[in-house]
This record gives sequence, C-alpha cells and structure tokens, in this order.
Amino acid sequence: MQDFPISRRLMLAGAGATALAGCATMSTGGGESAAAPIPVNPVVQQRADAQVFRHTDGNYFMMASVPEYDRLIIRKSRTIAGLADPASEAVIWRRPTSGKMGGHIWAPELHDIDGVWHCYFSAGDSGDRFHIRTYVMRCKGKDAQHDPWEMVGQLEAPYDTFNLDSSIFTHKGQRYLMWAQTVPGVSGTSVFLAPLATPLTFAKTPLRLTIPTFDWEIQKYRVNEAPAMLHRNGRLFMAYSASATDDRYCLGLMTADENADLMDLNSWTKSPVPVFVSSPETGVYGPGHNSFTVDEQGRDLLVYHGRDYKEITGDSLYDPNRHTRVQRLYYKADGSPDFGIPVGNGEVPDRFSPADMRGAFLRHDGDRIIVGGGDIPTSQFRVKPGLAGAGTVSLEPILARGKVLRRMPDGSVVVGSLDGDPQAASFVRRGGTFVAVGTEGVLHHVGGNVRVGPARGGAASFIVS
Ligand code: AHR
Repeated sequence: MQDFPISRRLMLAGAGATALAGCATMSTGGGESAAAPIPVNPVVQQRADAQVFRHTDGNYFMMASVPEYDRLIIRKSRTIAGLADPASEAVIWRRPTSGKMGGHIWAPELHDIDGVWHCYFSAGDSGDRFHIRTYVMRCKGKDAQHDPWEMVGQLEAPYDTFNLDSSIFTHKGQRYLMWAQTVPGVSGTSVFLAPLATPLTFAKTPLRLTIPTFDWEIQKYRVNEAPAMLHRNGRLFMAYSASATDDRYCLGLMTADENADLMDLNSWTKSPVPVFVSSPETGVYGPGHNSFTVDEQGRDLLVYHGRDYKEITGDSLYDPNRHTRVQRLYYKADGSPDFGIPVGNGEVPDRFSPADMRGAFLRHDGDRIIVGGGDIPTSQFRVKPGLAGAGTVSLEPILARGKVLRRMPDGSVVVGSLDGDPQAASFVRRGGTFVAVGTEGVLHHVGGNVRVGPARGGAASFIVS
C-alpha cells in the first residue's frame, strides 16, 4: 500500500477540505501547481480489478485485467483523469501460446519492492485456464512500462490450489502479502495474509483471515477475494470482494487496530454487512475488486470496477464491461471509512460544506435543497458545465440524474429539470461562492434552507469536502 504524508488531523477532517470548489491542484514536477481535470466515470473502459496508486514520483500507475485475460498492461499518468487515455497504456507482457501461464491472466498489481518494480499476477495454463496460480515478475530497469521484465517465479502458496488477487502493503516496516486462495477440500475462496520474507516466500505461516459465510458472500459462489488495505485513523481497514462477479459482487470489510498483531485472527473484526453494493439509483452494478489511492490534492479515493447494467448474458466473467471507476472516500465520526454508494457515470461528484457550519453539507431532501447532516449520497453533487454556457456550472445530485439545482422566483432552491430558464440552473463559482447567473444573488443557507439572494460570509461560502 502506498503510504501518503497526510496529516492525521486532515484525515480526521475527512481526507482534506479546500475552498477551491471542485478543481484539484497538482504538482507538475517543476514546483508550479496546475489544475487537474475532474475525472469522469467510468474513468477507464473495460479494465477490471484495477490497482491505481500514486507513486512517490507523483505519477499515477494502474494495472488491471483486460477482457481477453491474455496480457499485462500498465497505465501511467500525472492525473487520475489521464488514465482514461488509451495512449497512457503499455503492454509489458503477453501470455505464451501454450503451456504454463498460457491461460487466464488476472488481476495484476505493480509494487515497488526495495526500488525494483515487481508485478504480482495470477495465471492459468493453456491446458486448464482455471489452474490459477500466482506468479511474480521483476522489471530489469526503472521504466516499468518500457524496460524489459523477467520472471522471478511462482508464489510459494500454502497449498497447491487456486490462488489469485495478490496485493502488498507495508506496516511498521514489514511487507505483507494478502491474496485469495481455495483451501483444499473446501469450496470457495478465502483471503489469506502473511509477512513476506522474499517476493515468493513467507516469514510466517499464512493466516486464513476471512471465510465466506454471510449470505451476501456466497451468492452463486462462495467468494472472498481481491483484498485491498487502507491505513487511516489508527486502524487498518482491509476491503475485499464477495460473491459472483455479477450484480451481486460487493465489498466487505475487516478492521484491526494499527498496533495489533495482524497475524492474530482475534485482532480482526469482520463487518456483518457489505460496505459497498450495487446501486440501481445511480446505475452501477457489481462494484468491487477495489484499491485505494489519493487524488491530486491528497484526498482519499476509492477505485473499483462496476458495470452500468444489471442483466448479463452468459458467464459474467466473460462480460467485458467491468469498467474502472473512482470516487471520493469519506469517513464516519469514529474514523472508519464510509463507502457510501457507487456514484454512477459522469464527473466525480463533490460535497460542499458551509464555511460557517462544518460537518453540515449542501444536500437534498426530496426536491428541497437544504444544509445539514445525514447520509453521503444526498450530499454528493456533480459539478457539470453550466446550462447557461461557458464559465458557468450546474449542480447535479447523484441520486437525481438528469436534474439540477434550480433557483425559483421566490429565491428558494430546488432539484429541478433541465428544461426552463438555463440561467436559473446555472452559477458562476468564485472561490467557495456560487453566484446565481442572471442575478446578484449567491447560494447561501439560512435556517437550514438554501436560498439565492444577497448574502456574505460563511453562510455563502462552501468548502469542497
Ligand atoms: O477478473 C478476473 C478475476 O475475477 C479476478 O482475479 C477476481 O477478483 C474476479 O473473481
């Protein structure tokens, strides 16, 4: 897991807040800062199982499964949005036409191990595409996309059984591997954990960390796989994926104190319910196989794949449209991650907190626009190009696709249609202020309601949170 020099205070504040409404600033390497484009979901078409991380050199790297399951690719970009560019992708290896590793190639991850790029991936054989085992390759140069790679070998897993979805994180100076594997004689897969001694061997006997037992973990197949680690607010949060790769695919969560013995099963608590599931309201199905990273401002991002339709013809494993998606990751008052819901296609949404009422957010209650506390989805708005044209924006609630915040003649603000006066649904952003196009009024809150009119100060200044 890539550790980021982010202050604990910032984390508890919910991974960063800035008065820059909706634009991300990034270092361009020369010390100057430039605005990073807001990513648009799905960020990368037909790339499943995406690992996205920001390396210490400021570049974003991405590995993922391709629909053909026949090669290893790496994408590299200075911005999250730049990963959408097919030109950011390079093929670093293709499976052999026969023999070992000539079958399915799944869920690769790129990791910097003592300054050398390593790739962990799972591969079947040409004679049995599902004889899936884990292999490690090493880059012979510093350019992971273009320098040659060599095989290190096969992971010395605890059993000679189906094993996949390896991921590495470092904690208290110790590098750990977590992966999914079938226990001999037991159907399904569990997530295992062990400290690494070398890239292929373990320093301790692996721990079987999760077993699919809840109903939401055993839909069609008994699956716990695709572990991803997040270290925030004094705890380790391991997200993992469960059930078949159709619309029932979802995320579960294991939690441990950062000072606990990670190799003691009693250190871990398993959520009895999934933390991230399909969302018919926003049109995302089968969200899973996640990774964690930060955006250009250092704010936590959840990366995952998901389809934008529910019904699948044939085996979901061969449906190519598990696209890579990203969204902001927020936190509950106790410091644990609140995954919310998959936000759906379109610009990655933001949340807006009044400068004079932090912890409250611009949100909608039905068609009313208010300021207050509550769940995440009703406070997530896409900042879209404004209906009134260049230089203006319109705000689309993620739960009301195709609708926008609209100013009414009496100054109230509602969730309204795209039809009607475009100026009444458009704003000009000045720092944290939203100036209503066609008036001198600004968006502000009064008594919990949101209005457009003369206002100044914290009630009229919204901080992107
Ligand atoms: O996408 C191929 C495989 O399907 C992944 O390795 C696994 O996480 C999922 O079940």
